[in-house]
Amino acid sequence: MTGAEVVARCQVLARMSETPGAITRTFCSKPMREAHHALRGWMEEAGMRVSVDHAGNLRGVYPAREGGEACLLIGSHIDTVPDAGAYDGVLGVVLGIGLVAGLGGRRLSFAIEVVAFSEEEGVRFGVPFIGSRGLVGTLDEELLSRTDAQGLSVARALRDFGTGSELPPHEYIGYFEMHIEQGPVLESLGLPLGVVTAIAGQTRAEVCFRGAANHAGTTPMHLRRDAMAAAARWIALVERTARVTVGAVATVGSVQTLPGAGNVIAGEVRATLDVRHADDDVREALVNRLRCTAEKIAERRGLQVEWKTRLLQAAVACNEGMAEMLERAVGASGHRIHRMVSGAGHDAMILSSIAPTAMLFVRSPGGISHHPNESVLENDVDAALAAGSLFLRELETVYGE
Ligand code: HGY
Ligand code: MN
Ligand code: MN
Repeated sequence: MTGAEVVARCQVLARMSETPGAITRTFCSKPMREAHHALRGWMEEAGMRVSVDHAGNLRGVYPAREGGEACLLIGSHIDTVPDAGAYDGVLGVVLGIGLVAGLGGRRLSFAIEVVAFSEEEGVRFGVPFIGSRGLVGTLDEELLSRTDAQGLSVARALRDFGTGSELPPHEYIGYFEMHIEQGPVLESLGLPLGVVTAIAGQTRAEVCFRGAANHAGTTPMHLRRDAMAAAARWIALVERTARVTVGAVATVGSVQTLPGAGNVIAGEVRATLDVRHADDDVREALVNRLRCTAEKIAERRGLQVEWKTRLLQAAVACNEGMAEMLERAVGASGHRIHRMVSGAGHDAMILSSIAPTAMLFVRSPGGISHHPNESVLENDVDAALAAGSLFLRELETVYGE
C-alpha cells in the first residue's frame, strides 16, 4: 500500500460525518457505523478476522504462524472533535491495516491486531478514552452511566449502536500507535517522522461560576453577581498563569452561559479547563493554583464556584526498548531520528497499562490539527509505512523469525 492510498482512505472516512461540509464523528454515531463498514472491508481484504467489542471498538486480527498466542496491537481512534481534520486518529488505523496488507499474506511469529478505538476525544460524554479503557478493562459503572446532552448513557449508546462481547485480552507484546504530530516541531526540523518518548499528563475539569441572573438595564454595577464577568476574569488568569509556567499549556475551550440572553446578567457560567504538562507535579500544582484563583474570584464577588474534575491522566513514558527498535526502523528507512514528547493525549496512555507502547509521529504541515486544515504529506505517509514495516522486522528479531 502506498502513502497516497492511505491518504485516499482517510479522505473516504472523512466524508462519514454528522455535519455536512465538516468532519464530526462522535462515539456510537451513525457515521461511526459507516466508518466501521469501510474499515471492516479493508481489514478483511488484508486477511483479518473482524469483530466489534463491548466498547464499540472495531478489531481486526491477523493470525500468527502456527497459531502463536503473542499479539502486537496497532491502533488509534476513529472519533473526532467537532469540525475536525481528516487524519487525527484514523491515520493510525489505516496505516495499521496498510502494514498488515504489506505483509502480502506472510504470517509472523506473532499475531497483529488492528484496533479502531470508538472514542478518544471525549466529545459526546465529556470524558475521553472510552474505547481504549474498554479494551484494557477499566470501563467502570461510573463511566458507563455518564450521560450526554440528550440524557443518554454510555451504556445505552453502546446498546443502541450494537456491540459485541468483551474479548479476552491477548498476550500483547506491545501497542504501536502511528499518529499525526498535531504540532509544529517536525515541520520546523524538516523531518517526516518523530519517535515519541513520553506523553504529557492532562487534567480536564468543568468549572461552574454561579451568581445571580438579573435585568441588564436596571441592575447597578455594584449590586451585581455577574457570573460572566467572574469567569472572564478567571479565564484571563488561566492564560497568564500558564504562560509563566514553563512547559505548561492550559485551555478554556468551551463556555456555556445561562440564561444566555444579551439583556440578562449571566447567572451561571460553565467553563471547561484542559491543563497539560510532561511533569505531573508541575501540572498538579498549576491546577491547584487555578482552582484557588477561581475560589478567590468567586468569594470577592459574592458568587459560588463548583469544580468538577473530569479526567486526571498521568504522564506516560513510552517503552524505551520499543522506542529504540522504532528508532532503528526510522533510521533504516532513511530518515533522521528525532525523539519528542507528545503534548496531545493518545490511546497509548491507556494501553501502556497492559503493554509496552511505541508511538510514531507523522509531520503535521503548518502544525495544524483539530481543524479542517489538518493535513499530511503523501511522502511522509510513505515514510511511516516504510518505518512501520521495518519496525515489524525489528519485533520479529525479538519474537522469532
Ligand atoms: O486532546 C488531545 O490531546 C487528543 O487530541 N485527543
Ligand atoms: Mn484529537
Ligand atoms: Mn488523536
